Amino acid sequence: MKKVIVGMGTCGLSAGARPVHERLQALVEDHPDVCAPGITGCIGMCYREPLVEIRDGGNRWIYGDVDAEKMGRIFEAHVLTDRIPEAVSVVYSEMADGTRGGEEKDFLALQQRIVLRHCGLIDPESMDDYLAVDGYKALRRALTEMRPEGILQTVKDSGLRGRGGAGFSTGLKWSFAAANQGEKKFVICNADEGDPGAFMDRSVLESDPHAVLEGMAICAAAIGGTHGYIYCRAEYPLALHRLYLALDAARAAGFLGQNIMGTDFSFDIKIKQGAGAFVCGEETALFASIEGQRGMPRIRPPFPAEKGLWQQPTNNNNVETYANVPWIIRHGAERYAELGTEKSRGTKVFALAGKVVRGGLVEVPMGTTIRELVHRIGGGIKDGRTFKAVQMGGPSGGCIPAALEDTHVDFESIPATGAIMGSGGMIVLDDTSCMVEIARYFLNFTQQESCGKCTFCRIGTLRMLEILERITCGEGDPADPDKLLLLAGQIKEASLCGLGQTAPNPVLTTMRYYRDEYDAHIRDHTCPAGVCNALVDFFIDPDKCTGCTLCAKQCPVQAISGQPRAPHVIDTQVCVKCGKCLSSCNFGAIFKG
Ligand SMILES: Cc1cc2nc3c(=O)[nH]c(=O)nc-3n(C[C@H](O)[C@H](O)[C@H](O)COP(=O)(O)O)c2cc1C
Repeated sequence: MKKVIVGMGTCGLSAGARPVHERLQALVEDHPDVCAPGITGCIGMCYREPLVEIRDGGNRWIYGDVDAEKMGRIFEAHVLTDRIPEAVSVVYSEMADGTRGGEEKDFLALQQRIVLRHCGLIDPESMDDYLAVDGYKALRRALTEMRPEGILQTVKDSGLRGRGGAGFSTGLKWSFAAANQGEKKFVICNADEGDPGAFMDRSVLESDPHAVLEGMAICAAAIGGTHGYIYCRAEYPLALHRLYLALDAARAAGFLGQNIMGTDFSFDIKIKQGAGAFVCGEETALFASIEGQRGMPRIRPPFPAEKGLWQQPTNNNNVETYANVPWIIRHGAERYAELGTEKSRGTKVFALAGKVVRGGLVEVPMGTTIRELVHRIGGGIKDGRTFKAVQMGGPSGGCIPAALEDTHVDFESIPATGAIMGSGGMIVLDDTSCMVEIARYFLNFTQQESCGKCTFCRIGTLRMLEILERITCGEGDPADPDKLLLLAGQIKEASLCGLGQTAPNPVLTTMRYYRDEYDAHIRDHTCPAGVCNALVDFFIDPDKCTGCTLCAKQCPVQAISGQPRAPHVIDTQVCVKCGKCLSSCNFGAIFKG
């Protein structure tokens, strides 16, 4: 019997997957016994959601940009009569003989998926689906065929490094926690994911929650962990819903709880919902938050392996780090270590966002170049514009210019550019991006998210932000770049945690690679990209204006005049540059210059 599966990750749902799913259910009711309906998570092609997949024997077809009406056509044609319907895009197909096709064939074909191995393939709400892809076999092997030292050695040998940003050796970190004793020992999964533009962890939790639970249980078995916590932000309701379901199912199946799989190993996991503070992703602030205190970082040492949550030995890893572990245990350290570069083994998941054609989730071997990610997998820049830079590592990261697009993404090469690997957010910028404004945006974020504990982070970032704000308003002073550099150095040096230590990075990298843009704002009072409103005027192109009058109606200060059905004009003396006309124009007639 055919299977018809709707992608129901957050990306699919926000693009309209629910009505598609409802239509499918109605069709199945009208035609019982012709197909089995199902759901799945995110396969990574967020830019073509809603996606619907038909599986028939060993063949699969994924349709993209599906709505309820197209769902009906797919059902009539493909499900009922084995025909590919007209005017509905097959974005990917894979036949039993291995032949691949579809409009977006390259997107998946160019990737190597370990962390995302089940994402978009299984129903994340079904234990049967997870077991069908050999779920919990790695845990069984770890508990019944390996000793804790063997697990630690395997993880060390794999070369896996933490995917939360710092890239510390996971095996080494586990062995530190294993060496310490306490009344309790905690295994924590950091699913805070506060970086703007990042959605790797959310997608993994929504699409394959058991892989993370299994990875955590294996970690507990290796280090003697007794209690687990997943710290996940409350803004991820679907991830939380699926995590709660997965926890219940895992307990019911005996994969969590007392005497797991009939052994003397007992371990269970609780969920702590975070309130969405960026600093609570920093592990010691995360512990404080779980403990019910205000989320503020603590001084290290003592390190978490010795005194972490509630002063007990603790191991904390990122979602993606844990999701790698079952694969490593099942396939062996060697196979994992074959992928990637000498010092950065395995694969890395990236959330491709911004001005790239194929925005979504991708997984590639470490060492893949930025060029490959942006142009080949990402399909290049939207609207035929020019690639300008990629912002990596979120607010702690930096901007890597297009000239360095042959840089390899790994824990050595990216920091050499002044950016950081971070957790995998990759925001692609085109020639319409102002790099001073980008720096201001990220600094505004870190400034607001500073917990306030360190003076340099709390006040230093505010002073930097004030300088950037006046530069983007055309009121910069020639001494400002030096002041920014001075403050940046002091904030990095004197802040307690990674938030302050890295907050100046977006400013430093944009000053390093785009100093001319800073100079243009300060010296010439111009914004070369035409982004900073204070430095540009709004105009109407008479050849494009149809005189629809919409912009004039939107303008809060009556700066736009003209007769209906005749080109309008903007009085730049009256205009307050709010941009409402620009966003309301349906004819692309309004421009900044
Ligand atoms: C301000 C700040 C925010 C952070 N946010 C996260 C986060 O959202 N997720 C994460 O895994 N690590 C985050 N980290 C890094 C954690 O402190 C920690 O290094 C990481 O969770 C360790 O896991 P790993 O070894 O698997 O990388 C953050 C660090 C800082 C300084």
